[in-house]
Amino acid sequence: SMLFAADFNVWKNSTLHSIVQKGELRVCLEPGYVPFEMRDKHGRIIGFDVDISKKMAKDMGVKLKLVPTAWDGIIPALITGKCDIIISGMTITQQRNLKVMFANPYFLVGQTLLVNKKHAGVKSYKDLDKKGIVITTKLGTTGEIAARKLFKHATIKTFDSESAAVQEVLNNRADAFIYDKPYNELFMAGKGKGKLIFLKEDLTYEPLGFAINHGDPDFLNWLNNFLRQIKHDGTYDKFYHRWFQS
Ligand code: ARG
Repeated sequence: SMLFAADFNVWKNSTLHSIVQKGELRVCLEPGYVPFEMRDKHGRIIGFDVDISKKMAKDMGVKLKLVPTAWDGIIPALITGKCDIIISGMTITQQRNLKVMFANPYFLVGQTLLVNKKHAGVKSYKDLDKKGIVITTKLGTTGEIAARKLFKHATIKTFDSESAAVQEVLNNRADAFIYDKPYNELFMAGKGKGKLIFLKEDLTYEPLGFAINHGDPDFLNWLNNFLRQIKHDGTYDKFYHRWFQS
């Protein structure tokens, strides 16, 4: 029947169908967002998202190809077909969701602050929203969106990488860095130890999700069932414990 033909076309046009046909899953991600995606000392991309991507490719029965992509071009890369999916700690926002579809959330974060030690008494972001204060974050992230919303009087400076932005605070060229909690937590446990103040309070509510192109219900269905499976069969917990302390 006509109905059957139409339904079958949805599947043939699915990115999932082409992944299986090509035998390759191409994942766009931007290394630098510790511990989701980063480079090891040999330059290899590793992290929580990489483990999830490997498992995804394995379950599809295909090879995995990681496609490192600059953050400000990552949605355009997906839309123009340079990759099949973005797995890069991306926050599901309503604005991004106009351009791409998201699978169900796989992680929850909030914006937090790493503050220069000279601001010893600071308890809240509000204490820093003053003229002359410099807040840094990464360009095009939800950190930038939160910074512009929460800091109306302070100066906001954006950087191409997380590490450059937080380094400004360590080097006394800025007062605070605003970014996703897992990144700040790990930075604080490492290079920030004894040098920065960590304000752990979540300033935003941010579910992270895998992004795919609009109009692909078959791929979306596969991803949501994949997520439910790994969340309950121990796979997700194994990866979580590998990359996050507790
Ligand atoms: N969650 C934040 C956002 O969506 C930051 C993600 C940065 N990811 C990365 N791989 N650099 O804007």
